[in-house]
Amino acid sequence: MTKQHKGTALVTGASSGIGAIYAQRLAKRGYDLILVARNAERLSELATRLTKETGRTVETVPADLGNKADLARVEAVLKTDRSITLLVNNAGFGGTAPLLASDVDKMQAMVDLNVTALMRLTYAAVPGFVARGGGAIINIASIVAIAPEILNGVYGASKAFVLTFSQSLKHELADKNVRVQAVLPGATATEFWGVAGTPVEHLPTEIVMQAEDMVDAALAGFDQGEFATIPALEDAGLLKAYEDARQALMPNLSRSAPAARYKAA
Ligand SMILES: NC(=O)c1ccc[n+]([C@@H]2O[C@H](COP(=O)([O-])OP(=O)(O)OC[C@H]3O[C@@H](n4cnc5c(N)ncnc54)[C@H](OP(=O)(O)O)[C@@H]3O)[C@@H](O)[C@H]2O)c1
Repeated sequence: MTKQHKGTALVTGASSGIGAIYAQRLAKRGYDLILVARNAERLSELATRLTKETGRTVETVPADLGNKADLARVEAVLKTDRSITLLVNNAGFGGTAPLLASDVDKMQAMVDLNVTALMRLTYAAVPGFVARGGGAIINIASIVAIAPEILNGVYGASKAFVLTFSQSLKHELADKNVRVQAVLPGATATEFWGVAGTPVEHLPTEIVMQAEDMVDAALAGFDQGEFATIPALEDAGLLKAYEDARQALMPNLSRSAPAARYKAA
């Protein structure tokens, strides 16, 4: 049973894993969809299935978001399609190897996708949202945004960008009816792990969440108006303490004089 029409959601990385589940859940919630990823065949199979299941309009835009011309095509869609009310910046890839075992060109490609594409798509979407009186952005970060020691450092840093960029956006757009959510999944059972270099079967099962559970939890966080959602975090007080510590630091970070402990003897 489809719900009331919510406008159109553009979902990047919708051909598999977390993005494909967002697409399905959002169609069920009443969104029309624009699905973006490189694999055109997978996108059109998903589009056909979701239209059949939900009756929603589902378009596909095959694009390599690491490629400037392709990225510009998707930016143009976000700038011109006035029906878009939600952007899910989900496309991304990671690595599990440390610096000494990683290829710098692959790291560059990771930054191009996880950072540059996400930033440019956000810049393409936000002015329209503001002009039309509202909208929402869901940015898929990762727990490595706050725990970069766990996986490849460039991957962690790219997701820290996603988190801090989202934090700043939330602040800038607070009075403009544009919702911003950052989702920080822990290990989730998708093709991500094969691409990253460690098959998901090699991880302890107790730390791996099914992608459906992850997305449903993230959407529950979205519905509750949360900014940062960590689906696996049982004790929400821990995240609050982390944020409270950050807020306590903020007024103390810029002063005319160095701190006493740095004064020359
Ligand atoms: N799985 C986890 O444990 C986990 C944990 C935390 C965060 N995340 C984040 O969740 C997001 C989704 O990952 P996933 O776990 O669902 O993995 P996934 O199944 O590998 O999905 C990645 C998606 O991104 C697309 N993509 C990759 N490179 C692209 C490019 N150059 N241009 C356009 N689309 C591209 C892929 O489609 P094509 O190959 O068709 O382009 C695919 O649809 C990522 O941002 C990832 O960092 C995952």
